Amino acid sequence: MRLFLDTANIDEIREIDRWGVLSGVTTNPSLIAKEGGDPEAVWKEILAEVDGDISLETTELEAGPMYEEGLRLAGMAPNAVVKVPMIPAGLEVGKRLTSEGIRTNVTLVFSAAQAILAAEIGAYCVSPFLGRLDDVGADGMKLLHDICEIYAVQGYASNVLAASLRHPMHVVDAALAGADIATMPYDVFTKLVKHPLTDSGLERFLADWRKLQGEQPSMHEDQPSRAEEQAKKAKKQEREAGH
Ligand code: G3P
Repeated sequence: MRLFLDTANIDEIREIDRWGVLSGVTTNPSLIAKEGGDPEAVWKEILAEVDGDISLETTELEAGPMYEEGLRLAGMAPNAVVKVPMIPAGLEVGKRLTSEGIRTNVTLVFSAAQAILAAEIGAYCVSPFLGRLDDVGADGMKLLHDICEIYAVQGYASNVLAASLRHPMHVVDAALAGADIATMPYDVFTKLVKHPLTDSGLERFLADWRKLQGEQPSMHEDQPSRAEEQAKKAKKQEREAGH
């Protein structure tokens, strides 16, 4: 399962990219708006930064303008993937772009029926939003399992991109379900690497290492040095000789 960052923040992208595990980035209009400034400049910086798929989302609602927008986004770089919403115009444009060799990501998918439509237009990927389903009392992970099973049974080639992930177990369960890609915010990504036993284990290893190097102040406190031992011995001998 490939790991993507769901952000438009270049600092977050650069930090995680240094780990060597980042295969792509997904953006959406809300994430771009959060960064402020010129969207085109933000997209271009991300496209140049990451050697992987970068999803850029269309904002037009009519098929004609959406298609033009999709062409413009796809032309920004070879690693651009055009995001279209799961609406009739999004399917129409997605199909047209796909037939022209442009990779598309069908977004805002909340049902298995919608995922079937995305696969039928030959989308490069389909993005079910797990967390947002959980938020309304539905079962996002169950949907992901269903989509993965349907795609396997039907032999659909589209990648299943688990989106709207809120915590590390969402990522683990998405991998178990067979998702091809998991996209997550920076805070979820950083939580993947953390474990309290790793931290305490490392602390112990380093403390033992410092002890060995003689740098541990407690070493001098707990264990007397050779010179101190000799001085003690000499004092004892003096005392004994005095008697
Ligand atoms: O980018 C699409 C999706 O991952 C959004 O997630 O957290 O806004 O529900 P969220």
